[in-house]
Amino acid sequence: MKEIASMHHVTFSYDTEEESSQIQIKALDDVSFTLYEGEWLAVVGHNGSGKSTLAKLLIGLLFPSTGEVNLFLEPLSDANLWETRSRMGIVFQNPDNQFVGSTVQDDVAFALENNGVPHEMMVKRVREALEQVKMSGYVNHEPHHLSGGQKQRVAIAGALALQPELLILDEATSMLDPQGREEVIEIVKKLRGEIGLTVVSITHDLEEVLLADRVLVMNEGKVLMMGTPQEIFQKGKELESIGLDLPFALRVSELLRESGVELQGNHMTEEELVNELWTFHFSK
Ligand SMILES: Nc1ncnc2c1ncn2[C@@H]1O[C@H](COP(=O)(O)OP(=O)(O)O)[C@@H](O)[C@H]1O
Ligand SMILES: [Mg+2]
Repeated sequence: MKEIASMHHVTFSYDTEEESSQIQIKALDDVSFTLYEGEWLAVVGHNGSGKSTLAKLLIGLLFPSTGEVNLFLEPLSDANLWETRSRMGIVFQNPDNQFVGSTVQDDVAFALENNGVPHEMMVKRVREALEQVKMSGYVNHEPHHLSGGQKQRVAIAGALALQPELLILDEATSMLDPQGREEVIEIVKKLRGEIGLTVVSITHDLEEVLLADRVLVMNEGKVLMMGTPQEIFQKGKELESIGLDLPFALRVSELLRESGVELQGNHMTEEELVNELWTFHFSK
């Protein structure tokens, strides 16, 4: 497995002013992890646990107070910042703060233009990206007049048009309805299959967490645990103690077990649970 990004003992503090005295807020505390090419990493944690700060450090919007961030096997520095950023796309939670173009197509084209992509290729990529998010019918619309879900899809198209090697979604699906969320997940799945895209998805959506290859759990600026969804959700009590939800099927499995139903496994999806319950039922 080839590394695509990593953090080594990264600490980050925000300097803020409160009642005219300078204070520091430690948002990340000794964070280390490695992300591999083609991987889908879900990042979870309560509000304020440092997830967005981690995303911003990963794309060089912020620099660590101490420690090191490596991207594409090189330490992120002033010298390689722009080249490195051009290989990554990021989508934030609130698309309103991200629009720069006066029409949907201008908006999607903006970053490509900045990266010096030739006009013909730009037109092609903008068209393809808008097709992928099913927004082709809106090329000349004003972004501000779209619905929340449509705006978010345009923001995602903007990131996809860059043909990034690493795509970071910071709660990008949180404002979408279940169908919109499903569509984004489908796009991500498809791109992973086609171009081996690496994805970091900060999310509260448990369905999405279950689809990831690995999960990074943040708590109070620290990495609490990292592992496959199965490994993470084995530690259900610990996750609940830091205020995280568990998958519905897992909670039901636990309740069934407590009431004397002998289940074989810890079921993550409703399908797995239902299958075992049927087997259990018929073997009686
Ligand atoms: N621009 C900022 N200035 C000062 N403190 C901030 C700023 N952004 C985030 N923080 C603080 O840093 C901590 C981590 O925030 P953040 O990374 O946004 O967490 P999350 O994305 O998990 O909700 C929180 O305590 C938050 O209040
Ligand atoms: Mg956040």
